[in-house]
Amino acid sequence: MSGALLEVAGLTKRFGGLVAVKNLGFSIARGEILGLIGPNGSGKSTAMKLIMGIERANAGSVRLAGREIVTWPTHRIARAGIGLVFQHSRPLHRQTVLENIKLALLPDSLFQLAAEHAVDAKARAIGERVGLGAVLDRRPTTLPFADLRRMELAKAIARDPDVVLVDEPFAGLTMAEVESFSALIRSFREEGKAVLLVDHNVKGVAALVDRVLAMYLGERIAEGKADAVMQDETVRRVYLGGTIETHARTIAAEKSGIPLLKIEGLSVFYGKAQALDRAALEVHEGEFVSVVGLNGAGKTTLFNAISGLIPYSGAISWQGTALAGKTPAAIARGGIVQCPETRELFGDMSVAENLDLGGQHQPAPERRTRLDWLYDLFPILKSRSKQLARTLSGGEQQMLAIARALMMNPRLLILDEPTLGLAPVILEQLSKALARLRETTPITVLLGEQNVTFALPHADRVYVLEHARIIWQGPPDRFAIEAGAGYL
Ligand SMILES: Nc1ncnc2c1ncn2[C@@H]1O[C@H](COP(=O)(O)OP(=O)(O)OP(=O)(O)O)[C@@H](O)[C@H]1O
Ligand SMILES: [Mg+2]
Repeated sequence: MSGALLEVAGLTKRFGGLVAVKNLGFSIARGEILGLIGPNGSGKSTAMKLIMGIERANAGSVRLAGREIVTWPTHRIARAGIGLVFQHSRPLHRQTVLENIKLALLPDSLFQLAAEHAVDAKARAIGERVGLGAVLDRRPTTLPFADLRRMELAKAIARDPDVVLVDEPFAGLTMAEVESFSALIRSFREEGKAVLLVDHNVKGVAALVDRVLAMYLGERIAEGKADAVMQDETVRRVYLGGTIETHARTIAAEKSGIPLLKIEGLSVFYGKAQALDRAALEVHEGEFVSVVGLNGAGKTTLFNAISGLIPYSGAISWQGTALAGKTPAAIARGGIVQCPETRELFGDMSVAENLDLGGQHQPAPERRTRLDWLYDLFPILKSRSKQLARTLSGGEQQMLAIARALMMNPRLLILDEPTLGLAPVILEQLSKALARLRETTPITVLLGEQNVTFALPHADRVYVLEHARIIWQGPPDRFAIEAGAGYL
C-alpha cells in the first residue's frame, strides 16, 4: 500500500457534451490537507460529489484505504468513512441545531430509539466542538451565517469520518471566523484525517494546506506546495488574475440637490432582535456607495428595506418621494434593482431564460445589446446559456444573479455581497466591468461587502455598519486609518 488514505485516479465526469472533470488524479495521506483550487466551473465541487458518490463517474477510480468505492452508493461511502461539507448550507428548518446534528448521526435506514440517549450526548459533544454549544436549541433560520456553516461542518464530521471533503468553508466568513474554522480543520489533521479543501480565499487555503492542486476545465494544471502553485504562470493567468485597481472618478458625482436615495432613522426589528438602529444614508445620482460590514451587521436588512421586502420604521425616499407602502414590484419598476445575496434564481429555467426575465421590460434591440455585453463580461454564462440554473456551479450562479440584475437596466443597482464564491480572476473582471459601466452609463451603485479589497477601490463614499448601526462614513482613503480595524 502506498500509505495514501484516499486515492483518486482517472476520474472523469460528463454532463451531456461538457466534461466537468477530466482524468483527474491525486492522493491524500492520513493527517494531510490537500487544497483544491481553480476558477468557477472548473470541476471542484463535482470532484467532491464523485468521491462521495453523489454524482456517478463516467470513468476512473476512487480508493479509500485501498478499497475501490467508486460505484458505491453515498450512504455506504459515508459509513465507510468519508464526510462532505457542502458548498451551500441546507439545514432542516423545522428542527433545532441539535436535531439537525442528530439526524446526521443516525444510521441511514433506521431510527433507533434505544440509542437516543447516546446519540443525544454525542450530538452535543460535536456541537460543542464546532462552537455551536450556545445555540444547540435554536432553529437554523435564526442563526448567523457562520453558525450555519459550523452546523454543516458538524453534520459532516458527525460520524467521525477518516476523510473530510470541505467545499468553500470560508466563503462569506470574516477574517476572525476564517481563523477559527482553520483551527478546526487543522484539528482534523492532528487526528490523522485526510482533508480535501476547496476555497477561493487563496490566503486562507495557503495558510492551511500541505499541498495544493489547481484545476482548470476539469483537469489538473499544477500541483505542489502552495507557494509554488500560486506562482505558476497558468494558475496566475486562469485563476488568480491581477490586483484590483483603484478607479479614479473622471466626473465627481453631483452632490447638490435631492439625493437619489435618502434614508433617515431606519429601524428594523425581527421579533425582539433589532437588526437596524436608526440608520441614515444618502446616495446621489451617479455615486458609488459602499456599505462595509461584517456578517450579521445589518447590510441585507438595509437592502431588503429599500426594496420593500420587510417592514420598517423611519423614512426611505427615492428622488424625494417616500417609498413606504409601495410594493417590491413597484419599487423595482422605479429603477431600484437588488441583486440579493441569496441569488433567487429560477432553478428550473435555463441561464438564457433567467436573463430574459430580467430584460423583459426592455425593447428587443436594447435587450440584445445588453445580453451580448453581459455574455462578453461573463463568457462562461454564454457557454452555459442552455443549462438549468440550479445545476450551475456556485460561482456561475453568482455571475448569473449579477447579470440578471444588470439586464434590468437599473438606475440604482444594489449589490449584496457580490464577491461571495467568485474566483479572484472573476472579481477582477467584475471590478473592471463596474468601472466601465459607470463610465458609459448613468448608473448609481450601492454595494454591501465585507471584502474591502473589492468595496473600497470603486467607492466614492463608504459607510461602516456595525451591530445594526452606521458607525462611520467617509471617503475610502480615510477608511484604513479611521475605520479599517477588523476589515483590513
Ligand atoms: N448537473 C449538471 N448538468 C450540467 N452541467 C453541470 C451539472 N453540474 C455541474 N455542471 C457544470 O460542470 C462544471 C463544473 O461545476 P462545479 O460545480 O464542479 O464547479 P466548481 O469548480 O465547484 O466551481 P465554483 O468555484 O464556482 O463552485 C460547471 O461549469 C457546471 O456548470
Ligand atoms: Mg463549487
